Amino acid sequence: MQTIAVAIDGPSGAGKSTLARAVAQEFGFLYVDTGALYRTVGLFVRRCGADPDDAAAVEALLPRARVSLAYRDGEQRAILDGEDVSAAIRTPEASRYASKVSAHSAVRAFLLETQRRLAREQSVVMDGRDIGTVVLPDAQVKIFLHASAEDRARRRMLELDGRGTPQPYEEVLADIRERDARDESRAAAPLRRAPDAVDLDTTGNTLEQSKKLLIETVKERMGACGIESHE
Ligand code: DC
Repeated sequence: MQTIAVAIDGPSGAGKSTLARAVAQEFGFLYVDTGALYRTVGLFVRRCGADPDDAAAVEALLPRARVSLAYRDGEQRAILDGEDVSAAIRTPEASRYASKVSAHSAVRAFLLETQRRLAREQSVVMDGRDIGTVVLPDAQVKIFLHASAEDRARRRMLELDGRGTPQPYEEVLADIRERDARDESRAAAPLRRAPDAVDLDTTGNTLEQSKKLLIETVKERMGACGIESHE
């Protein structure tokens, strides 16, 4: 059976996960949030008391990291050594650790096969930073999703408010800018658009507008590749 891969890359806070999940649901594909893998490695490094900026220290820990994704009732769960850490990896501190450990090429190599295996086994919508460029360079559909830093900061604030962990706008914006800079400037698989990716800017859009735009784009791309969507 031919599997289909939809790769969605872009900076943090562009609505990637919500939108990728909606696309996966529309087409009946598995949604894979690869950021969760980097976050889980980050949590592991923090729990081990290691410095996430120290490439050698992080690399030395990797053979002991039991990191995987599981799917329960269609929902992705992040698993660290048998423990469901899906909630623990969502704190601002976990975000910083994830961004730092993801800069090390050893961490990227460590997580590569886990991601590729998922895409070999079933049709996926995979979101991340380097899916279209490194992880699944042969993905049939590639999307680069972005929005202005200010727009992303506003959305992130609403999300944090909703979770009962509010943070001031200026802090959220500074955090986003810092993470963007790190994700874009790192030597190992920096965030960049694959040459054959469709560029979608969601600045100013409502979630519904972005969802419609993305689903239309994926349909169009699949049609252009001769892939039938099963509606
Ligand atoms: O998408 P996210 O915010 O959950 O990702 C957390 C961090 O992991 C982010 O700083 C970038 C990094 N990441 C990455 O380098 N490559 C991916 N494919 C996914 C995430």
